[in-house]
Amino acid sequence: MSTLTVELGERSYPITISEDSLSQAHLIRDFLKTRQVFVVTNPTVYGLWADKLSAALTGIDVQFIQVPDGEEYKTLQTMESVIGELLQRHAARDATLLALGGGVIGDLTGFVAASFQRGIPFIQVPTTLLSQVDSSVGGKTAVNHALGKNMIGAFYQPKAVIIDTETLKTLPAREFAAGMAEVIKYGIIYDAEFFSWLENNLDAIKALNSDTLQKMIYRCCQIKAEIVAQDEREKGLRALLNLGHTFGHAIEAEQGYGNWLHGEAVSAGTIIASVVAQKKGWLSASEVSRITALHAAFDLPISAPKSMGYAQFMQHMQHDKKVEAGQIRFIIPQGIGQAVVTSDIDDALLRDVLN
Ligand code: NAD
Ligand code: GLY
Repeated sequence: MSTLTVELGERSYPITISEDSLSQAHLIRDFLKTRQVFVVTNPTVYGLWADKLSAALTGIDVQFIQVPDGEEYKTLQTMESVIGELLQRHAARDATLLALGGGVIGDLTGFVAASFQRGIPFIQVPTTLLSQVDSSVGGKTAVNHALGKNMIGAFYQPKAVIIDTETLKTLPAREFAAGMAEVIKYGIIYDAEFFSWLENNLDAIKALNSDTLQKMIYRCCQIKAEIVAQDEREKGLRALLNLGHTFGHAIEAEQGYGNWLHGEAVSAGTIIASVVAQKKGWLSASEVSRITALHAAFDLPISAPKSMGYAQFMQHMQHDKKVEAGQIRFIIPQGIGQAVVTSDIDDALLRDVLN
């Protein structure tokens, strides 16, 4: 078992990673103010992992609240239904919410926790690779609006993140691969050595070797914790975590949410950002090849849908949350292990790459 801390003063919290965290009752019990716990989950995850969690919490008043599975349910309407359940079941202000599921459940539960009675404690128990390496850490919580993804939300930190890597054994291969796009992201923006480590451990990662997964997830959480500790509210450094996301969100929106998984769109977006970097002279051809090959090794998409060109990308990117003073902000690698946030991308260059 390994533990690290997201250092945010009085809002600091631990991330615990092991192949059996869900069986270790104290990991959760230590963070409960009272014995009233509401676990928000969906039928898929409930069917697979609720029993293990319930067994660990014997003696605690654990109540499950299930919401439908899918990004399309990450909405104010679902949020209202969860709050309705909490009220009907007399949730006290010191009750704890526990998010058991992927990023959709984590983001939704976090925002309910931030809002219910002006804020109650919550714990993240992420069960997808993407949520274990990214969304459960750092306190971004949100629901979607019909006009934009994650447009309604809050920064609200959990009390603890408890990662059980055994949950990845039931995750569909496509979802695992989508999570790998966010893993590879950390290597590109922050840690060249970690990027090489991923290249050298492909087989063990694909075989879900427990030690390898724990090391990989630990390093991702460590990088994210370092970044969030320095820039919790995304005034600068944290924006680097959005590598591939400006282009990726455009792909997700154009294709209809749910058709391309978030991580798949981030993969294609990262390759586009890398080609932009190459054209600016910031990445060599061999570095672009390594970035492309690592994504391809997990069967991730390495190009945008053929139906999308400059016009379609621009239409979506102009509405991105990262637009500031009318300028689209791009995250572009500068070598493997480093990246910058810039609006200084020549329109002709962008047109060339996107077409
Ligand atoms: P998801 O939550 O939709 O989970 C993917 C699928 O896997 C779902 O069908 C889910 O029910 C299923 N599942 C979950 N755990 C499982 C398990 N152990 N075994 C089998 N099936 C399992 O998707 P995701 O990729 O985890 O998260 C995507 C969401 O995360 C998006 O809404 C995105 O906006 C958000 N996100 C948030 C942040 C953040 O910082 N808050 C960062 C990245 C992404
Ligand atoms: N996933 C991006 C962030 O947490 O900032």
